[in-house]
Amino acid sequence: MYRPAAVTRRRNPLGAFLLPPSAFFIRFNFPFWRLVFLVAGILQENKGMENGPERKVEGKREEKMRFCVTGATGYIGSWLVNTLLQRGYMVHATLRDPEKAAHLLPSWSSCDRLRLFKADLLNEGSFDEAVKGCNGVYHVAASMEFNVMATENIEAYVQSNIIDPAIKGTLNLLKACLKSKTVERVVFTSSISTITAKDSLGRWRAVVDESCQTPIDHVWKTRVGGWVYVLSKLLTEEAAFQFAKENGIDLVSVITTTVGGPFITSSVPSSIRVLLSPITGEPEFFSILSAVNSRMGSLALVHIEDICNAHIFLMEQAKAEGRYICGVQSYQMSELINHLAKVYPCSNIQRLVEEECGSAPSEICSKKLNDLGFNYKYGLEDIIQQTINCCLDHGFLPQIRR
Ligand SMILES: NC(=O)c1ccc[n+]([C@@H]2O[C@H](COP(=O)([O-])OP(=O)(O)OC[C@H]3O[C@@H](n4cnc5c(N)ncnc54)[C@H](OP(=O)(O)O)[C@@H]3O)[C@@H](O)[C@H]2O)c1
Repeated sequence: MYRPAAVTRRRNPLGAFLLPPSAFFIRFNFPFWRLVFLVAGILQENKGMENGPERKVEGKREEKMRFCVTGATGYIGSWLVNTLLQRGYMVHATLRDPEKAAHLLPSWSSCDRLRLFKADLLNEGSFDEAVKGCNGVYHVAASMEFNVMATENIEAYVQSNIIDPAIKGTLNLLKACLKSKTVERVVFTSSISTITAKDSLGRWRAVVDESCQTPIDHVWKTRVGGWVYVLSKLLTEEAAFQFAKENGIDLVSVITTTVGGPFITSSVPSSIRVLLSPITGEPEFFSILSAVNSRMGSLALVHIEDICNAHIFLMEQAKAEGRYICGVQSYQMSELINHLAKVYPCSNIQRLVEEECGSAPSEICSKKLNDLGFNYKYGLEDIIQQTINCCLDHGFLPQIRR
C-alpha cells in the first residue's frame, strides 16, 4: 500500500524535537549491547516484508514510516508499539494516563523514535496531533467495560454511557485521520465477540468465518456475560466501516481472538484473566469464558506476538480489505482446561458445562488471513506456557510445588 507520496513533505531537521503542546517526547540512553540486539532484531523482523521502515521520497531522501498506535498502555497496544519500534518505524503512541508509560518505557526499545501523546477517545480533536504526519493508524484503544450494574432503564443507560461514547470516540479518531491527509490506512482492532458460531436457527456452524456476525438484537435480548463489550465492539466497528466508506478511508479490521502469552503492562490484562479463570476462579472473568463457550462452543487463541504481527501485516498488504479473523486455532473448552491443568496443576480447577456441538466444535477459521500470506509462530502450548510463566513472574499466580 505504500505508494511514494505524491506530495513531498518537507522534514524540519529539528522536527523531532519540536513538540506540539499536547505531546511530550521521551528519549533515553540505552546500553550498547541492547542496540546491537535491536539492530539484529530489526534485520531479522524485516526479512520478507513488502516495505521496510523507510521509503524513498523524490528518489533521494529516505523517510522513516510513521505510525500512530492508540491504547498504547494496554496489552496489545504496548506490545504493538514495541514491535513497531523494533522494526525501525517512528511511532506515535497515544495514552490517557502518562503515569502508565513510566512503567512501559524500559520495555519500549529505541525511544528516540517514539513520541507519546496524551489523548482520550471521548475528547473531540484529541487525536489530531498524534495522527498528524502518520502513514497509518492502528486503532487499538477501546473501553473494556464488560458488564454494567443493573439500573432501571439499562438499555438507555448502556446506549448513552457506553455505546454512544465508544462510537463517537472512534469517529473522532477517523476524523483526525481525514484531517491529517497523510494517513493511508487505518487498522482497527476488532474482536471475536462480534462473531458467533450459531446460525439464525441456533444450530452450530461447522466453519465460522468473517461473515458469521453476532446479531445485534440477539445481544440486546439475551445480555449474557460480557454483553456490553460485545455490543460496543459490534456497533463501533459497524460505524467505523460506514464512516470510512463515506469518506474514502482505507480501513481494515483484525477480528482478534483471545490473546495470551507474555505481557509488559503493569497489571494483568483482562484477556489473560479470562483465559486463566478456570484456575483462578475469578467469577467475573469465568462468566465471560462461559459466555464465549455458549456463543462459540470453543475458544480461539492467538499469541500476543502473532496478533501484533498480524496488525502490521494487514497495514502493509496492499490487497488487504475488510475484516480478518486472527486466531491460530480454536480449542474445545475441555481441551483447553485440561491443558491449563497440566501446566498449572491445582485442586480447584473450574469446569464448564460443555456445549452440545455435535461431533466436533466449530472451526474458527482464519483462512482469509492465511490466504493473504500470514503465518503464525505460536500454538496453544506456547500460549498457555508463556501466559502462566509471565503470571508466575508477576505474582498473579502463586508458585506451585510439583
Ligand atoms: N486481548 C484480547 O484478548 C482481545 C480480544 C479481542 C479484541 N481485543 C481488542 O483489542 C483492543 C485492545 O485490547 P487489550 O486486550 O489490549 O485491552 P487493554 O489492555 O484493556 O487496553 C485497552 C486500551 O484502551 C485504552 N482506552 C480505553 N478507553 C479509552 C478512551 N476513552 N480513550 C483512549 N484510550 C482508551 C486503555 O487506556 P488505559 O490504559 O488508560 O485504560 C488501554 O490502553 C481492544 O480494542 C479490544 O477490544 C482484545
